[in-house]
Amino acid sequence: MRKNGKGTKRKGPERSQGASGHSREIALKLPRDYSTEIRRRASELGYKTVSDYVLALHRFRSQVEEPEGTYRPHPALESPAGLPPVRPRLAFETKLGRVYSGDSAKLMRSELEPQSVDLILTSPPFGLVRRKDYGNEDADRYVSWFEQFAEGFVRVLKPNGSLVIDIGGTWKPGLPTRSLYHFELLIMLCRKFKFHLAQEFYWWNPAKLPTPAEWVNIRRIRVKDAINCIWWLSLTPYPKASNRRVLQPYSESMRDLLKNGYKPKLRPSGHDISDKFQRDNAGAIPPNLIALANTESNGAYQRYCRAHGLKEHPARFPSGIPANFVKMLTDPGDVVFDPFAGSCVTGEVCERLGRRWICCELDEQYVRGAKGRFRDTQASIWATGAGPTRTKPYEIYPPNALITNDREAPLVPDGGRGRPKRPTSDGG
Ligand SMILES: C[S@@+](CC[C@H](N)C(=O)[O-])C[C@H]1O[C@@H](n2cnc3c(N)ncnc32)[C@H](O)[C@@H]1O
Repeated sequence: MRKNGKGTKRKGPERSQGASGHSREIALKLPRDYSTEIRRRASELGYKTVSDYVLALHRFRSQVEEPEGTYRPHPALESPAGLPPVRPRLAFETKLGRVYSGDSAKLMRSELEPQSVDLILTSPPFGLVRRKDYGNEDADRYVSWFEQFAEGFVRVLKPNGSLVIDIGGTWKPGLPTRSLYHFELLIMLCRKFKFHLAQEFYWWNPAKLPTPAEWVNIRRIRVKDAINCIWWLSLTPYPKASNRRVLQPYSESMRDLLKNGYKPKLRPSGHDISDKFQRDNAGAIPPNLIALANTESNGAYQRYCRAHGLKEHPARFPSGIPANFVKMLTDPGDVVFDPFAGSCVTGEVCERLGRRWICCELDEQYVRGAKGRFRDTQASIWATGAGPTRTKPYEIYPPNALITNDREAPLVPDGGRGRPKRPTSDGG
């Protein structure tokens, strides 16, 4: 980092050695929003520098222009850290778990026993989309890359087990439209690999920033994208599960009802509300919307990475996400597998909840950083601050809670095709 004349920090040109060891600087002139977005994306996908990311995109572009039949997976998908998939090796073990360093598709073929896993729980690298006005090639590439893992999942999962995939949507570069890759993935898993969609969950992250700023803050034609999809799949329509493990505190009105009673009656919707609703079941059955900010303190993990000069994983999920599904879908002693383990949040959650677990991660640096999670796992996940400690509900307003005047807020002409003359970046 260097300072410019006004004393604010400015990033200097990056130097990437490239495969040959020689490098040359090329100055790129990009609108500020794009350069921020590119930096964020590069770091999210695990590239060390923006140059490495641009190089991978270029290689991909060159491949795309090769004749039909020479398809190779997108390099950023095959190996987000720019590493070739390698034969997995056991990196370290804990009381209940094992961490492998290497390619999980290979691990599932070579190391894991058929039908040995009760729950596969993971957050795969998100699809990298490329500019294409029509068609859905980005999604096609992602889905065909994923098939090697799907084959492994079918092999190692027990017949009554579950597969839970946390996957965020993404925008098509340069367009205010969305990629379909995560829906295509779901359809491929169900159609080709015969998974059942047990239920879809939506994870709402109240702390998510409004991106891409161009569509949300500047042109004001889209709203904040604050949801990840979580596909819960299974090989049978009846995977083992219980919602009793994930009950939530009753709402104030329900507590009132339990205290003061309720007169059974027919609701306007036609539902007959019987007196069974007065039974105290020790908590409310949660909806399939999970509200959880991704602002969890990862103190011990971060301190360990810093002390050992290791990069922290940039796309960690909060422990409340794996904890929810580990509790609902497995018993103590069951085996949980995370094939795209990153910093091994899933492993830490399982260790603290008494489940056996296996994590596999391609990037050696993340594997080494993950060790920092397992130095003190005696305390319960709920007591350490590493776990989901917030118990207060989040607030979300119903639509039209703020009355706006149509005339004072006209629709954006041309659907935002052009930039406003005086962009307002007020965050809305
Ligand atoms: C979205 S991150 C997972 C983050 C993780 N849930 C956490 O909270 O730390 C996806 C990870 O998959 C890893 N990955 C990509 N391809 C892989 C492969 N073939 N085998 C194992 N890991 C892979 C990437 O290096 C990346 O760290």
